[in-house]
Amino acid sequence: MVRVVRATALELATAVQALRDGEPVAFPTETVYGLGAHAGYPAALRRVFELKGRPTTHPLIVHIDSSRYLTRWVREVPEAAAKLAERFWPGPLTLVLPRAENVHRLVTGGQDTVAVRVPSHPMAQQLLTAFGGGIAAPSANRYGRLSPTRAEHVREEFGAEVRVVLDGGDCRLGLESTIVACLDGKVQLLRPGSVTLSELERVVGEVLTETSAPTPRVPGSGGAHYAPATPLAVVPTGELESLVAELTEAGQRIAVLAQHPPLGTYRLTTWINGGTRPENYAHDLYAHLRTLDKARCSRILVQEVPADERWDAAYDRLQRAAAASNGEHAEGTDPVAVGEAP
Ligand code: TXA
Ligand code: MG
Repeated sequence: MVRVVRATALELATAVQALRDGEPVAFPTETVYGLGAHAGYPAALRRVFELKGRPTTHPLIVHIDSSRYLTRWVREVPEAAAKLAERFWPGPLTLVLPRAENVHRLVTGGQDTVAVRVPSHPMAQQLLTAFGGGIAAPSANRYGRLSPTRAEHVREEFGAEVRVVLDGGDCRLGLESTIVACLDGKVQLLRPGSVTLSELERVVGEVLTETSAPTPRVPGSGGAHYAPATPLAVVPTGELESLVAELTEAGQRIAVLAQHPPLGTYRLTTWINGGTRPENYAHDLYAHLRTLDKARCSRILVQEVPADERWDAAYDRLQRAAAASNGEHAEGTDPVAVGEAP
């Protein structure tokens, strides 16, 4: 099926007017849907934090239509950043750079840096060009939950609270952008995405990772995140089938995201085969987790993904979802009481 991924003139005019009025606009990108606000309008930014329930110390990514606007947001473009932008923009790469003087603290979370990205989705491009400025946009989900990869997911998250939702169909990639900081002469990977570590290294040489260097503060990327409401655990491949058999025999309803169809026949099980191709798996991951979350199961079991950099982004999001289920809470939220102490 060929999908129309361009907005009509009327949709575009409505969205641009909403942004100018300080209203949020949800829009598609090639990674996930964003909840956009005029990046130079503090009241509009505040509304996005309120809608998401996100602490205002967590910085936002500024989306621009091309690097021509970069110097409005950053005071210096290190050589590595210029090379990465040249190679990967428009596309699923976010650069964290020294911020320009006038960037509002709600965008930067009060830090001296700003995250910028040029999305490639045609409808995001249309919106940014028509708006003619920066759109600050976190993923269009409530704080700590799964990111939306379809317009209907955004409506499920926010209902009538977000009046303008541009529908650009399924997001092509399905996981959030790769985030790279270019600061103090170093290049550091802060969040894995579909642009892999070796692709980055082919352009700029050595790239530091979380394990090779202390990470600068990446508010909102630590601990629990990207989580369904149903407890989720990642299970080693060799243990998946026996665990499902054991739990279902004990009468539990189990949801499974595997990379193959079930070998046995299990009662009370909703089984999704996410397949063995990393691009397809990433594309469908959040939609599958949403489906499994609605299956009224006591847990979601996810087959561990291969140790291969093409799976790094999926691995990262699954670890965070599992961490959320283990009671590690997204920074800045109060832990929810789950029971009285005896
Ligand atoms: O693919 C994406 O990046 C999507 C689409 C909508 O563009 N956006 C997205 O935004 O994932 P959000 O807000 O859900 O995640 C942005 C991440 C957060 O972890 C935030 O802490 C980090 O980027 N970030 C933003 N500004 C930063 C900065 N100045 N320094 C370090 N991390 C930053
Ligand atoms: Mg997010």
